[in-house]
Amino acid sequence: MNAAPLGPLSSAPPLPPGYLVSADPAWLDLPLIHAYLARESYWAPSIPPETVRRSIANSVCLGAYHQSMPGGPPRQVGFARVISDRATFAYLCDVFVLPDHRGKGLSKALVAAALGHPELLGLRRWMLVTKDAQSLYARFGFVKPVEPDRYMERVDRDIYRRQNQA
Ligand SMILES: CC(C)(COP(=O)(O)OP(=O)(O)OC[C@H]1O[C@@H](n2cnc3c(N)ncnc32)[C@H](O)[C@@H]1OP(=O)(O)O)[C@@H](O)C(=O)NCCC(=O)NCCS
Repeated sequence: MNAAPLGPLSSAPPLPPGYLVSADPAWLDLPLIHAYLARESYWAPSIPPETVRRSIANSVCLGAYHQSMPGGPPRQVGFARVISDRATFAYLCDVFVLPDHRGKGLSKALVAAALGHPELLGLRRWMLVTKDAQSLYARFGFVKPVEPDRYMERVDRDIYRRQNQA
């Protein structure tokens, strides 16, 4: 059994000028995050705004921002959310970058910021689920489950649609 610690993990390369990542919840643009998750994401279609608001309030969130001119207001262009007890375990989810800002290293910066967040250091296990971005996370030490038979899940795939109808 290899008991060596994981860190330090791959860090993200520097971002292009005008881009930054922040963990300040006050900067988050909730309508933008909801619009992406509900209308563009493959994993949370139709998620209600109140569910997004509550998920963000109860998570560690990272935002990627773009300042189109020096001194101008930073506009949110990316997001990542971590659900965690902040002691033993974390689940990384809701990672996205708006199409115009992709290919600039923002998702790598978001994942690096999540893994390096001071409240999320020293955790025994991180998990995530992804359809096709395995290589993005592999560079940060994520691997396919070593013992997949031990994993179970309980998923209600229709819940957001029903909540919207209620
Ligand atoms: C996936 C996504 C977040 C990547 O964001 P990004 O800021 O453009 O990515 P980066 O510039 O940081 O580069 C990501 C790296 O991971 C790789 N990668 C692996 N899977 C990928 C995928 N499905 N989409 C984009 N890049 C992917 C890229 O090739 C790139 O590798 P490189 O550094 O060797 O060039 C973005 O394309 C996105 O929002 N997609 C739609 C939502 C989504 O699929 N989110 C992930 C859910 S798990």
